Amino acid sequence: MIKMNKIGKIYNMGKNKYIALKDVNLSIRKGEFVAIVGPSGAGKSTLMNIIGCLDTATEGEYILDDLDTKCSDNKLAEIRNSKIGFIFQNYNLLSKISVLENVELPLEYMGIESKEIRKRAIECLKRVGLETHLKHKPVELSGGQKQRVAIARALVTNPQIILADEPTGALDSKTGQEVLEMLKDLNNEGNTIILITHDRDIAKEAKRTIIIKDGCIKEDILNDRQVKEVSICN
Ligand SMILES: Nc1ncnc2c1ncn2[C@@H]1O[C@H](COP(=O)(O)OP(=O)(O)OP(=O)(O)O)[C@@H](O)[C@H]1O
Ligand SMILES: [Mg+2]
Repeated sequence: MIKMNKIGKIYNMGKNKYIALKDVNLSIRKGEFVAIVGPSGAGKSTLMNIIGCLDTATEGEYILDDLDTKCSDNKLAEIRNSKIGFIFQNYNLLSKISVLENVELPLEYMGIESKEIRKRAIECLKRVGLETHLKHKPVELSGGQKQRVAIARALVTNPQIILADEPTGALDSKTGQEVLEMLKDLNNEGNTIILITHDRDIAKEAKRTIIIKDGCIKEDILNDRQVKEVSICN
């Protein structure tokens, strides 16, 4: 489903260049639950933004679901909206609209009929146990509830991949565990999950762990067994 070949990302900073990713080769199949782990500044979010078609690589090839992501911005947005659901550390909910409207939003961009939009948004909010909070504003929710709204919003388009960048980072450990259990359930139902974290204990909950450091993949581990020895940065 995801195939990256020698992906590199260089940020231009005035006269200087910063290499955030270098020679990343990565394949992820449908239905996997992958954790991407590494210290701050390792390149995790940079990689997530490329996987999620929010940004493009400066080097290499990224094929998503047989589509080459080297395409126009409009096409890239179309791929992103139809294939990816995002969950962020800081929830990224719109504060002025209700829980229900937040979850409806991604469907509105897809030109779906309003009755159907409402039905699907309510279904997803039921799925995360928030059917009693449809009319609340995000500010009236706890952190865990906000993240559950974000999960519902990620699910509502029925995406092929759910990308979560530090989804438990702002939560206490119990609430974080609940969010993690929800992601595990979604994976058991066949969803492909890519979880970004700097916490090795959280990463252990996934089925596969990819360790990234200094913009390179250092290890790729499946159920505590090393499956691949990968190129080491200079
Ligand atoms: N827009 C940008 N311009 C210049 N450098 C950037 C930009 N975005 C990220 N970087 C640099 O690229 C490197 C990787 O950043 P990235 O955000 O991917 O790290 P991360 O692994 O997600 O870290 P964290 O755990 O702190 O979120 C960092 O050194 C960062 O300073
Ligand atoms: Mg990050």
